[in-house]
Amino acid sequence: MKTHTTRKILLLLFMVVPFLSSASPRERLLMNFDWQFTFGHPHDVEKDFNMGTSYFTYLAKAGYGDGAAAADFDDRTWRTLDLPHDWAAEMEFSGDASHSHGYKKVGPGFPDTSVGWYRKTFSVSESDKGKRIFLEFDGVFRDSKVWVNGFYCGNEPSGYTGFSYDVSEYLNYGGENVVAVRVDASMEEGWFYEGAGIYRHVWMTKVNPLHVPQYGTFVTSEVDGDEATVTARVTVRNKNLGKSSFSLENRIVNAAGDVVAEGKSGVFELIPMGSDEYTFEYKVDNPHLWDLDDPHLYTLETLIHSNDQVVDKYETTFGIRTIKWDPDKGFFLNGRHVKIKGTNNHQNHAGVGTAIPDGLHEWRLKQLKDMGNNAYRTAHYPPTPALLEACDRMGMLVLNENRLMGTTDYMLEYLKRLVIRDRNHPSVVLWSIGNEEWMIENGERGAMMAQNMQAYLKTLDTTRPANAAVSGAWGAGISSVIEVMGFNYLRHGSTDEHHEKFPWQASLGTEQGSTNTTRGIYVDDQEKQYLKAYDVPTPSGFMSIQQGWQHYADRDYLAGMVIWTGFDYRGESTPFRYPSVLSYFGMFDLCGLPKDNVWYLKSWWSDEDVLHILPHWNWEGREGDALDVWVYSNHDEVELFANGTSFGRKKMEPNSHLEWKVPYKAGQLKAVAYDSGKKVDTEIVETTGESQKVRLVADRQTIDGDREDVAIVTVQVTDKKGRVVPTANRNITFEIEGPGKIIGVGNGDPTSHEPDRYIDAYKTVVFNNWKQTLATESNISQVLNPDFDVQGLKDALNNDGLEPGTEAQKTVFIGQFDLSEEELSGDINWMFRSIGDNPSLYVNGQLIEKDIAEYEKVFHLKKDYLKAGINRVVVVATPYVKENPWSVVNTEPGKLQVVIPAEPWQRKTFNGLAQVIIQSTGGAGEIKLTGNSDGLKTGELIIEVVEAEGRPAVK
Ligand code: GAL
Repeated sequence: MKTHTTRKILLLLFMVVPFLSSASPRERLLMNFDWQFTFGHPHDVEKDFNMGTSYFTYLAKAGYGDGAAAADFDDRTWRTLDLPHDWAAEMEFSGDASHSHGYKKVGPGFPDTSVGWYRKTFSVSESDKGKRIFLEFDGVFRDSKVWVNGFYCGNEPSGYTGFSYDVSEYLNYGGENVVAVRVDASMEEGWFYEGAGIYRHVWMTKVNPLHVPQYGTFVTSEVDGDEATVTARVTVRNKNLGKSSFSLENRIVNAAGDVVAEGKSGVFELIPMGSDEYTFEYKVDNPHLWDLDDPHLYTLETLIHSNDQVVDKYETTFGIRTIKWDPDKGFFLNGRHVKIKGTNNHQNHAGVGTAIPDGLHEWRLKQLKDMGNNAYRTAHYPPTPALLEACDRMGMLVLNENRLMGTTDYMLEYLKRLVIRDRNHPSVVLWSIGNEEWMIENGERGAMMAQNMQAYLKTLDTTRPANAAVSGAWGAGISSVIEVMGFNYLRHGSTDEHHEKFPWQASLGTEQGSTNTTRGIYVDDQEKQYLKAYDVPTPSGFMSIQQGWQHYADRDYLAGMVIWTGFDYRGESTPFRYPSVLSYFGMFDLCGLPKDNVWYLKSWWSDEDVLHILPHWNWEGREGDALDVWVYSNHDEVELFANGTSFGRKKMEPNSHLEWKVPYKAGQLKAVAYDSGKKVDTEIVETTGESQKVRLVADRQTIDGDREDVAIVTVQVTDKKGRVVPTANRNITFEIEGPGKIIGVGNGDPTSHEPDRYIDAYKTVVFNNWKQTLATESNISQVLNPDFDVQGLKDALNNDGLEPGTEAQKTVFIGQFDLSEEELSGDINWMFRSIGDNPSLYVNGQLIEKDIAEYEKVFHLKKDYLKAGINRVVVVATPYVKENPWSVVNTEPGKLQVVIPAEPWQRKTFNGLAQVIIQSTGGAGEIKLTGNSDGLKTGELIIEVVEAEGRPAVK
């Protein structure tokens, strides 16, 4: 009876499976979870796990990855973590480290923390055999080498360009696999913080051998009245070993899921390993245009039909929109003039460094959008795909920048990879071929290179022009040939003269700003390296934000201005050096907390009403001093009161701000705004009381339990009345419970050397000095004695195993390990791997386990029998014998993993505020975060986590 039912179910399953597999012939799995990580070394071979030292290396023979690149390398003592990961964010600061990289102990001068090894074990099912399986990396900083099961896949030097490997032949189907990635961040690519590690997503894609390759489509559109013509170029690759014939079906689906255009092709053929591009045209009536406030996205679904089956379904997200860069009138989106109000940004945030979760990218874009910012320049490298996807979804224009100018085929290939990857994003409206290339920008060589790259770009995309950001000698070199001129800083010349000289050329300010401000600081303090947040020109000659914007706002021919920068970032702590570790250029600080400039820009960039007073009004000790009080607003007039006394009503000029001098007295500043003579708004700043409580405020009350979603928490120190105390610099310790973890903390203080992350330290302690003697009944108790003298015994466990034919005998192996006091205080696990039959283990005479049956097992070692200094370890076993002379059997009985727990998560508030980033650890429930500070009332925050499947992921 039972067998019968099972059979029926199986039959049903067989009927369902072909249908299921044709419905989803392609799988894309996130490969971010549960990687093993540790440091290697750029030149000390032993510290780099002896990789590449075998007689035959991975470059000599296929599959010969050795050391940590080998399939059976034992990585169990390493730390387990999830990607994205930036190990630079976990490092301490040092005055000897790189200024560009924010003085983190990585890179030049810090070899011990400059190479990282990542390994992930995963399984691939038997049923995947015959598919093509790709590992896709969105970006690794930098110079990565990848092996799968010991097979060398390739090397990608760039820290910013994504890459992928077809590993189908290297996999064990129905078994275990391991991918090893060696990342070498010894060298820098930029002059700004770049992080270190696999700091963007990794994916596994499984497809039919006949498939659309990654980034294998290009969708463009032209809009004419009520109709759009959509052109879809689709590449198909045949990785079958025989000829394949197929037809293509395309469907254009709108955001509501309706098919608005579709078509089927005739039959095509591809030879084995062949690929070709096929072009189709579709009409879409009344297209829903992609726009800044209504970023509507279409999907092109491409189906490959072959042998009466759908063998691939590839989805391309795109938008229908028109753009125009006009030399006299600036930028147009869908025929409407849009002044570019942009910011430059690096991929860098407090706490997490460059390893920004998707939710945090979104949060950052939201801060920018709320300021009225409509454009994002990806200074100075290809951005992460997740950022562009968010820009598409949220309605943000992107000026997409190439890393390094160059015209050899090798260099052009990088430009190509950027364009091919990103040309379907409606958000991308401009390609930047380079930034401030001082060696060439003024001269003939620069002009030649720019022309060459510009022409090359046209072979990849004719729908967006080329741009270069130029900081010197406008009127010559690159600036004389580039399609869209990018002015970097008005201090370098006259845009009017340039425009007159090159009337055919569209232009914008690709960088303006580079002013230096510190959030919540209103008096320069050179000693503490804090610079006031008033918007003033810098002593080195950079204009204020207002001066810059007035220039760009006044001129129609200038498409707009892109500020250096939206957010502070690590490195480039101009005008200071160590101990300052952050840039001061941001409109927001490193946490994305607004500096006062945000309200200036919001006044003139957004449609919202703005009324904002600076500074704060806590100036004990400065009573009677005349302080500068500024108001940012877009109302017609503003009247300022201090403690009830009017300091006058002033007219607001466009793109400007208002100033008063007010003698300080504790109490209240009040700004009253008028439009057309009518009072419309009031804003108050008050002297606060003493610090009383910690308050935790999350950007969202609910997050998804998908191991990816994040909540951004602002930590505030408030007075009795709940007002943020703008001078409070208090240390707050955090505790978290429930299905969430803290992934980073920050406060925007440019000189803070507090940790961004509190991470347990993982160490590996190895056994050494192995000696051996035969185990006999009469000697066993003697040799197990920890004081047994090993002098004169034979060396052991230093080869590939006993030669074939040897008769193995029960042997006592006696070795040792050394523990420091610190290591002894940690959590110690013996990651045991067997060296023979029925092993028994002893540490300092203490039996750990007898006659172990498993090949690998973990034993937690206890303090009772461990000591600082030399400890004795004994393995009694009958050692393995090699099957063939060339075989290798295990002769290493594992290693010790020592985990030294981190201090509790903590951060000082800086001028009243700090930030905690929380991420789901999977599953539903309630996250409770508490913030404690001596003498203050504890802050408490609850975040609901809802059950969420999350993106399909490699387990
Ligand atoms: C520019 C450069 C930026 C940044 C800025 C700082 O010259 O393009 O990357 O370094 O200066 O002022």
